Amino acid sequence: MNKNVLLLSSSPRRGGNSDLLCDQFTKGAKQAGYHTEKIFLKDKKINYCTGCGTCFNEGKRCPQKDDMAEVLEKMISADVIVMATPVYFYTMNAQMKTLIDRTCSRYTEIRNKEFYFIVTAADSNKRAMERTLEGFRAFTSCLSRAKEKGIIYGTGAWNMGDIKRSEAMEQACEMGKSA
Ligand SMILES: Cc1cc2nc3c(=O)[nH]c(=O)nc-3n(C[C@H](O)[C@H](O)[C@H](O)COP(=O)(O)O)c2cc1C
Repeated sequence: MNKNVLLLSSSPRRGGNSDLLCDQFTKGAKQAGYHTEKIFLKDKKINYCTGCGTCFNEGKRCPQKDDMAEVLEKMISADVIVMATPVYFYTMNAQMKTLIDRTCSRYTEIRNKEFYFIVTAADSNKRAMERTLEGFRAFTSCLSRAKEKGIIYGTGAWNMGDIKRSEAMEQACEMGKSA
């Protein structure tokens, strides 16, 4: 199957550790012949959900005029969604959470997706990533038939590029290949 793989890279650091792992995943996915697209969230204007109720009370699309409509459309048409975040205070960063909140108007259309999670952190203990992963799972638990397929733990990486010394680089490439 020629899968459509969408990567959502939320680090504010282009070429940061989680972003590099996205590129490794992409490399593998391309080798497998999949179509890939990475959205670097910092390039997009995505406002906070205002909780206005236009979507959940009136059944209308979100009235905000920013880049989220385009990102949502891509999430809906993807087969595979890779969500990558740096760990900030033991959870996902605000950029990723803002994106998740803004799926509110169309999250019921994000159906039958395969999900991969990429987390990077200074901490080298994988178990310390659980709260971040639970945050992702809180989102996917709201979706219809979401399948969690894999996790890349980019632990022990503080500074830009630290991840290059980690086996997570190869793991991300391999995971992309077998996505
Ligand atoms: C605001 C902030 C909060 C952070 N909180 C944590 C944390 O709770 N635990 C941890 O291990 N690393 C923490 N870090 C370190 C980052 O997770 C780490 O540098 C990561 O590799 C960044 O990924 P990136 O290069 O993709 O942005 C924090 C960094 C920042 C800037």
